[in-house]
Formats: sequence, C-alpha cells, structure tokens
Amino acid sequence: MASEDDKYYSRNQDSLLLLCCLLCAAGDETVKLQEVEGTTITLHTGRTGIQSDAQILWSYGPEKAQKKILNSQVFKGETVTEISERFKERLQLDRTSGALTIRNISRNDSGVYLLQVIADDIISRTFSVSVYAPVSTPVIRNERGNGSVSSTEQCFLLCTVENGEDVKLSWYRGNERLSITNNTDLSVPLNLPLQIQLHDNNTNTYICVSANPVSNKTTSLNITQLCDHNSGTSESHF
Ligand SMILES: *[C@@H]1O[C@H](CO)[C@@H](O)[C@H](O)[C@H]1NC(C)=O
Ligand SMILES: *[C@@H]1O[C@H](CO)[C@@H](O)[C@H](O)[C@H]1NC(C)=O
Ligand SMILES: *[C@@H]1O[C@H](CO)[C@@H](O)[C@H](O)[C@H]1NC(C)=O
Ligand SMILES: *[C@@H]1O[C@H](CO)[C@@H](O)[C@H](O)[C@H]1NC(C)=O
Ligand SMILES: *[C@@H]1O[C@H](CO)[C@@H](O)[C@H](O)[C@H]1NC(C)=O
Ligand SMILES: *[C@@H]1O[C@H](CO)[C@@H](O)[C@H](O)[C@H]1NC(C)=O
Ligand SMILES: *[C@@H]1O[C@H](CO)[C@@H](O)[C@H](O)[C@H]1NC(C)=O
Repeated sequence: MASEDDKYYSRNQDSLLLLCCLLCAAGDETVKLQEVEGTTITLHTGRTGIQSDAQILWSYGPEKAQKKILNSQVFKGETVTEISERFKERLQLDRTSGALTIRNISRNDSGVYLLQVIADDIISRTFSVSVYAPVSTPVIRNERGNGSVSSTEQCFLLCTVENGEDVKLSWYRGNERLSITNNTDLSVPLNLPLQIQLHDNNTNTYICVSANPVSNKTTSLNITQLCDHNSGTSESHF
C-alpha cells in the first residue's frame, strides 16, 4: 500500500492538488460499469493488502450512496460483517482488497456504490453501476397494408422492438447504417421505417439491429418474403 501511495505522490508534484485529494477523499474518480441482469459482478478496488483490522464499509443508493449495505469490522481479532436485508445472501467481501461481489444483480441494483476503508487513514472509491436486461429481437414487417402507396417498385418496411433503457434501433445496408432511433419514453415500442427500391434487382442485404450497452440482436430482411408483390396476391388475371 505504501509503495502505491509513494508512486501516486511522486506523479503529483502540485501540493495544492495533493491537499485537495487528502481533503476530499470521497471525490475520487467514479468507476462506471454496465452489466447484464442476473449475472455476478465484482466491484474491484485496485487495492491489495488492506490492513487486517481496518473497518470496511460499502454503501449504496440509486442516486447517492446513502445506505450502508455492508459493514465489516474487527473486534478483538474477530471479524463481524453486517449485510443489509436488501442484499442479504448476495454479497461477498474480500477483506484484503475491499472488493465486493454481488450475485444475481438486478436492474433494481443499478446506482452508486461507495467503498470506505477506515484504518489509519480513510480510503474511498465510488462506482456507478448500470444493470440492463438483454435487448429484445427486432421484428420486420411490410407496411404496404395501408394501401396509400401501392408501388411495384418500392417496398415499405417497418422494424419494431420493445423499448428499454438505452435501447437503440438501426437499419443497416451491408455495413452501412441507414438510420437509427431511440426514445426516452419506454412505454412505447421503437419503430423505424425503411423504404427500398425493388427495380434494381436489389441484392443488398438489409438488417435491423436492436442494441443496448450490454447486448444486441439482429433480424435480416428477407426481400422475397416481405416485398414480393406478386406472391400471395390474386391479381394474376388480365
Ligand atoms: C435472481 O433474482 C431474481 C429477482 O431479481 C429472482 O427472481 C431469481 O430467482 C434469482 N435467481 C437466483 C439464481 O437466485
Ligand atoms: C424492483 O423494485 C420494484 C419496486 O421496488 C419491485 O416491485 C420489483 O419487484 C423489483 N424487481 C426485482 C427484479 O427485484
Ligand atoms: C400506416 O398507417 C399507420 C397508422 O394509420 C401510420 O402510422 C403509418 O405511417 C402508415 N404507413 C405508411 C407506409 O403509410
Ligand atoms: C438518443 O440517445 C442520445 C445519446 O446517444 C441522446 O442524446 C438522445 O437524447 C436520445 N434521444 C431520445 C429521443 O431518447
Ligand atoms: C437486374 O435487372 C436488370 C433490369 O432491371 C436486368 O437487365 C439485369 O439482368 C438484372 N440483373 C440480375 C443479376 O438479375
Ligand atoms: C453486437 O454484439 C457483438 C458481441 O455480442 C459484437 O461483436 C458486435 O459488434 C455488436 N454489433 C453491434 C452492431 O453493436
Ligand atoms: C425468404 O423467404 C422465402 C419465402 O418465404 C423462403 O423461401 C426463403 O428461404 C427465405 N430466405 C431466407 C434467406 O431465409
């Protein structure tokens, strides 16, 4: 621990900055994490060799780390660790690094986590954790049904996906993105239209992609299936 601190101090010659760092121990840089729900995550502290009799405190809150969720102290050589009801059975502490492992993380566990190690000095570290469900698979359908434009040269398509936190929906032609949409109103599905030309015996591949920070899903357009005006219609007579 001491050597790590020495390295740190030698990099920061500016004594004002150093003073500030000592005064606002909680003002450390926040570590940002994006995780898939249902998985096990570990909040790594980048430390080792925490004093064996140190008090280790983890706090959590959706916006601010206000509530103690784990408190580990040593009394007369015996370690006593208290864990809040909310996280009962799901937390594990590594006392040498301060790292916290959270099992089966849910979207409700998104928020700010704060570590405080209280020994001869106080060390703190803040984590911002965002937990997402894997994104849904988009569905492509033909929009011709309205009967407004009935062209044999164009095909009107609509790609749809269930909306969610930070979900984006895009159309690609090959590797080129043609359009993208998102919406902060999560109660309505995301919709993205696409109009393609059929006369140039279109050999391009079109895909619709839904994505959030932890996952993506792709649906390929089958032009034959969705844009062939002659199949499935009964206008074959003259
Ligand atoms: C994980 O948590 C969810 C609720 O968030 C619960 O329904 C599920 O049973 C849990 N799974 C395990 C393996 O504990
Ligand atoms: C998340 O929290 C809400 C309200 O507190 C609760 O109704 C819901 O069941 C929780 N979901 C999970 C997966 O824990
Ligand atoms: C079809 O109708 C719906 C609702 O009436 C409208 O939102 C949509 O834009 C129309 N699509 C086309 C291709 O005109
Ligand atoms: C779409 O996402 C961008 C960030 O990538 C954001 O700035 C914008 O406000 C979002 N738009 C909507 C409608 O949610
Ligand atoms: C593409 O369509 C044009 C006419 O629009 C035709 O001359 C050409 O042979 C077609 N190419 C293929 C590969 O089908
Ligand atoms: C989708 O996710 C895979 C990994 O699962 C990644 O390799 C790929 O680049 C992602 N695609 C997009 C368009 O984000
Ligand atoms: C596209 O759809 C047609 C008709 O439904 C089907 O015969 C064909 O196999 C599909 N092509 C692909 C690549 O899925």
